[in-house]
Amino acid sequence: MRMVDLIQKKRDGLELTDEEIHFIIEGYTNEKIPDYQMSAWMMAVCFQGLNKRETATLTKEMMHSGDIIDLSAIAGVKVDKHSTGGVGDKTSLVLGPIVAACGVPVAKMSGRGLGHTGGTLDKLESIPGLHIMISEEDFVKQVNDCHLAIIGQSAHLDPADKKMYALRDVTATVSCIPLIASSIMSKKLAAGSDAILLDVKYGDGAFMKTIEDAKILARTMIEIGESLGKDTRATISNMSQPLGNAIGNSLEVKEAIDTLNGHGPSDLLELCLQAGSHMLVQAQKTDSEIAARKMLEDVIASKKALHTLCAMVKAQGGDDEYIKHPEMFEKAKEVIAIKSFKEGYVKDLEAMTLGLVSMKLGGGRQTTDDVIDHSVGIVLNKKIGDFVKKDDILLYVHTNHGLSEELRQEILSAYHFSDDFVAHPILIDEVLS
Ligand code: URA
Repeated sequence: MRMVDLIQKKRDGLELTDEEIHFIIEGYTNEKIPDYQMSAWMMAVCFQGLNKRETATLTKEMMHSGDIIDLSAIAGVKVDKHSTGGVGDKTSLVLGPIVAACGVPVAKMSGRGLGHTGGTLDKLESIPGLHIMISEEDFVKQVNDCHLAIIGQSAHLDPADKKMYALRDVTATVSCIPLIASSIMSKKLAAGSDAILLDVKYGDGAFMKTIEDAKILARTMIEIGESLGKDTRATISNMSQPLGNAIGNSLEVKEAIDTLNGHGPSDLLELCLQAGSHMLVQAQKTDSEIAARKMLEDVIASKKALHTLCAMVKAQGGDDEYIKHPEMFEKAKEVIAIKSFKEGYVKDLEAMTLGLVSMKLGGGRQTTDDVIDHSVGIVLNKKIGDFVKKDDILLYVHTNHGLSEELRQEILSAYHFSDDFVAHPILIDEVLS
């Protein structure tokens, strides 16, 4: 078999056999196929697509390119959760503890921030002492002991995706549904859980800009999961504005702690309760989403979920006093209030612009070598549907290096106003299974 023939076959819109897809992934992972041929093939996939069988085969080949985590030593149905990424998305920090506190083992491997989107690992590292790389043996032991572990992906998990993702990033082949679906699902499947809850986001701050594309991506991933016998569901959620109010690492951890203390923002809480209800049903704790929601509300009210987060932080070497007393987190030197020049209902709030501002304040990486400043970011005071009077505070900027006029203008440009009434947006449009 020759790679050049397979590039041509896909370029001409023909179907590839399972053997041909195996040849491509095995060859690329083991450096027998060079980057330039792989990028030509992935560009052909962007134009011609892959059918259901080809997408499932690609995912299985990528999943088997490295280690498969064995979670069989953990009793019970293990449910994993994955978000396609957004701004202010601290769901895992709330969802993990509330689901685990209901007795479901949550063994989660998370990622770092990408572009304007934050990453759970960067957020967790704002807790002093906490480490995110632990051995597979300790990972399994921790989930057995406290039902919850959130760690970084092992270096040997899905090496095909690591190489392909880095190449896609520089060859304009990221936004391609079969490639995104196989990238996400191969990692989730290699991470060993029995069931998967996907939070597929759409809107300004998400990879998928439209709800239609989010649904196609969700359906593609559900079909892949089902083809491997895993119960897979997906919430389709709105990322046209940031989730919750906080953007930035320790600010988001504090907001997650507030939510576990029963006073978090209503959109974040609602997403966690809806996604969590499905996870409890998937884990066979109950067959009713209504009963599941009540269980989740109870573990927030009793502080059991907060204690579960403390147990996880302690087990991973972190100082759980910060969870009990969030005022201990290091604060930025300055908090600057940004006031409105206009009056009206907030019609649009560009999540992408605010995510990029937070990154430029030092909360994210502009190059892979950048060191993250955990204390900086943004806390929103006005969101879509709120009425704003002139001089009302729109948001607070937490900064260690002042605020340039350019960044101030970027922040103001994220808000769009209307004289007419604007309703608060619906957060979850649908749950697909
Ligand atoms: N997240 C992933 O893991 N892979 C993609 O391709 C896009 C988002």
